[in-house]
Amino acid sequence: MSNQKIIKQGEHLIVPDNPIIPFIEGDGIGKEIWTSVKKITDSAIEKAYKGKRNINWLEVLAGEKAFNKTGTWLPAETMEAFRDYLVGIKGPLTTPVGEGIRSLNVALRQELDLYVCLRPVRWFKGVATPLLQPEKVHVTIFRENTEDIYAGIEWNAGTPEVEKVLRFLKEEMGVAKIRFPETTSIGVKPVSSEGTERLVRAAVQYAIDNRLPSVTLVHKGNIMKFTEGGFKKWGYALAEREFGDKVFTAEKFKKIENEQGVDAAVKYYDDAISKGKVFIKDVIADAFLQNTLLKPEEYSVIATLNLNGDYISDQLAAMVGGIGIAPGGNINYKTGHAIFEATHGTAPDIAGQNKANPCSVLLSAVMMLEYLGWKEAGELITRALENMFQNGIATNDLARFMKNGISLSTTEFSEELIKRL
Ligand code: NAI
Repeated sequence: MSNQKIIKQGEHLIVPDNPIIPFIEGDGIGKEIWTSVKKITDSAIEKAYKGKRNINWLEVLAGEKAFNKTGTWLPAETMEAFRDYLVGIKGPLTTPVGEGIRSLNVALRQELDLYVCLRPVRWFKGVATPLLQPEKVHVTIFRENTEDIYAGIEWNAGTPEVEKVLRFLKEEMGVAKIRFPETTSIGVKPVSSEGTERLVRAAVQYAIDNRLPSVTLVHKGNIMKFTEGGFKKWGYALAEREFGDKVFTAEKFKKIENEQGVDAAVKYYDDAISKGKVFIKDVIADAFLQNTLLKPEEYSVIATLNLNGDYISDQLAAMVGGIGIAPGGNINYKTGHAIFEATHGTAPDIAGQNKANPCSVLLSAVMMLEYLGWKEAGELITRALENMFQNGIATNDLARFMKNGISLSTTEFSEELIKRL
């Protein structure tokens, strides 16, 4: 078995030709989608590597299926499998109500310290969009996954706990700015240099590896000086310190402009561009959201904190066809652990009707293949999908908005896609 395990050796992921990869089918539409994604992925791997490579899928349980079979929502064996086999994939999971677990997805991310939420966003020709020039959107979002106001450190208004925190803030920290202390809930926003650095490091490395032009740090440092402002400051410093002459920064550009004048700054910029260096810049989050609509071509790789990243991912996904086809991955680049996943939910309203769109999980599988270094198989799927959408062939959720769209069931869609691999 051990030679079927993916392992991390130093900087590198060592992937055997027949790796064991755990998967969670998912609740609701998960089953239909997974059946289709597995078939397409296996066919693409077979086509690309002619039997030299294949995936040994290992089903692990989570969500409703796990609860019905084992009485727990997230069995210990499932966590163990992801820890042991390093790379896995999952469908959507029902969020248990009143179980003491906020979300199974969050539990998995926290347990494996998957600090990057990776969301590539691109437009597929043929897919309906509210934009006039959707082909200009091509970004990869690195969202910090473990810190920020999302860390879940909060106290409810009116509880003895919040009173204690408010007393501490007032009496020991001299905080006098809380407008309505009697009825206030409090949340804490931790942002560290370590958390920032590992996220920005991953984003810059990704830009260098994929020859992308820029990394933009998106933040609200103008208002939240030490947390979001810290993210910007630590991000720039990390890029300059660790990536040296592979990058150039907007901060350095401004410094040269101030000290030596605009001509010298432009020379610095042109020289860096001619050498193919990655431009590190930053933008305030609200301006960024406007710019994504007005001039999306200015952005390539995005590095941002948890809450901003949540909004940004969904807005950008909506701009190119909705979260129904947006893929995602949660990754710890240090340990190699990664779980690729659907970005939509379990869609209980259409579950069991063979209409669900498998593309979010399918494109997540493509991300997984890229992560494994099996790019050829991933490209076969992407090209087949491009071909389908260009011809207006899709599941109903997308086809109904396409010009002369042809609406297929989940199974018909996957069969058609396999034919076009
Ligand atoms: P949802 O994403 O399941 O559904 C929203 C709408 O989008 C529905 O009309 C649904 O039919 C449609 N839709 C979603 N995925 C689709 C697909 N692949 N093909 C065609 N149509 C699709 O969000 P909702 O209804 O808010 O949540 C349902 C359940 O899913 C809840 O228990 C929620 O907690 C869970 N959830 C799980 C997520 C995950 O595991 N990553 C993410 C979001 C929600």
